[in-house]
Order: sequence, then structure tokens, then C-alpha cells
Amino acid sequence: MDKVPVGVLISGSGTNLQALIDACAEPDFPARIAVVISNRKRAHGLERARRAGIPTAWLWHRPHPTREAYDTLLVDTLRAHGVQWVCLAGFMRIITSVLLDAFPGRVLNIHPSLLPAFPGLDGPGQALDAGVRIAGCTVHGVELGVDAGPIVLQAAVPVLPDDDRDTLAARILTQEHVLFPRALRWAAEGRLRLTPGRAEVDLRPGEARHLLVPVPPDERR
Ligand code: GRF
Repeated sequence: MDKVPVGVLISGSGTNLQALIDACAEPDFPARIAVVISNRKRAHGLERARRAGIPTAWLWHRPHPTREAYDTLLVDTLRAHGVQWVCLAGFMRIITSVLLDAFPGRVLNIHPSLLPAFPGLDGPGQALDAGVRIAGCTVHGVELGVDAGPIVLQAAVPVLPDDDRDTLAARILTQEHVLFPRALRWAAEGRLRLTPGRAEVDLRPGEARHLLVPVPPDERR
């Protein structure tokens, strides 16, 4: 099988990257990670990629005078590795049209909230502060703006009575690791079409664009 080359952009721990690495290791998974790029030198995700034998690049944003200049470097690096789809997996930079124009309808992001609620930093904390009873995560096509773009796939998780920011974030993160490989599979199989404001998926029997995590029995009170 010819696997579709994907670039993954990270800034931190890289647990979502790890979920993608693990998925790509499956023989029948239609994508492979061609390069992992981090804007932070010490991002643990770079170590995960090295361990998996994936080429890495540390591209520091600081020396670049504009976001566009930095994104030009990103695009050059992604193209040098033949990348066709780009996954933002905890990449803590606002991207510009330079990247989006180079990969039109081919950039995915994962965010720890049920967008369009709670974009930006600390989705789980924002959800707790707002008192919502259902939280979750979203994979979306990337458009200009913070966590903006059409929704591909969402997982809903309950907010439990004793939750703090960390327990809720962990429950959400577990679902992120399920969602991102699923969305990437659709992308690599040519079943996901992203056009401005719209995400269409050719679903197969048994597939859905949402995932609902039930309240555990011992929490029902
Ligand atoms: C995740 O919560 C992701 O949704 C957000 O940043 C976090 C990255 O975590 N965009 P990790 O580096 O994948 O562990």
C-alpha cells in the first residue's frame, strides 16, 4: 500500500503525535508520518518521533520577523519531505495563509473542547469555569483564526462532579487519541473533503463523526 505522507507539527509532550505514530505503524493504516516539526527544541514529541525513526526538525519561531516568514520555512520543510497532509498536534502557534495556501484543505487540528465553544488556551479549564456538563474535543479543518475551521469529528465526554482541570483534561485527551487517527485515516483515504466552512466525509457503515463517552456507572448519583 502506498501510504500518504503526512507532516505533524508539535510544541509539547506529543501524546497526540504518539497516537498518530501508533496508528501509522499498523500495516493497513493509509498514512505515514514523513516529518515531525517542533517550534520548541525540548518538546518531548521530538523524542517520540526519533524513537520511531521519523525525521524531525526543530524550527524555532523566534528569529523570524513575521509569522509569514516562519510559515514559509514550515512550508519549505514540509514540501522537502513530500508531505500531502498536515496535522497540528498541540502546535502552539497561530498559522497564516502562507501555510494554508500551500496545503489548501489539507491541514487538520485537534483541540480539547467542543468547538466552537472554548477556542484558545486551556479548553478543559474554560469548560470547567463555564460550568458545562458536557465537554470534549474536536478535529477540524484549519482556517484562519484561533481554532477556526469546519468540524470533522467530535467526542463528547461528561464533566463529573469531582472533576478538576486535570482530571477533565485527561478524560478529554484520551478521546483525542481516538479521534485524530480516525480523521487522518479519512483524509489519507481521500474520504474527507475540506472546503471553506465545510467538512464532508464519505462514511462507511458503522462509522460516525461523533463519539459519545458515557458517564461511568459508579459516577451516576
Ligand atoms: C492537546 O490537548 C491538543 O488538543 C491541544 O494541545 C494538546 C497537546 O497535547 N491542541 P499533546 O502534546 O498531544 O500531548
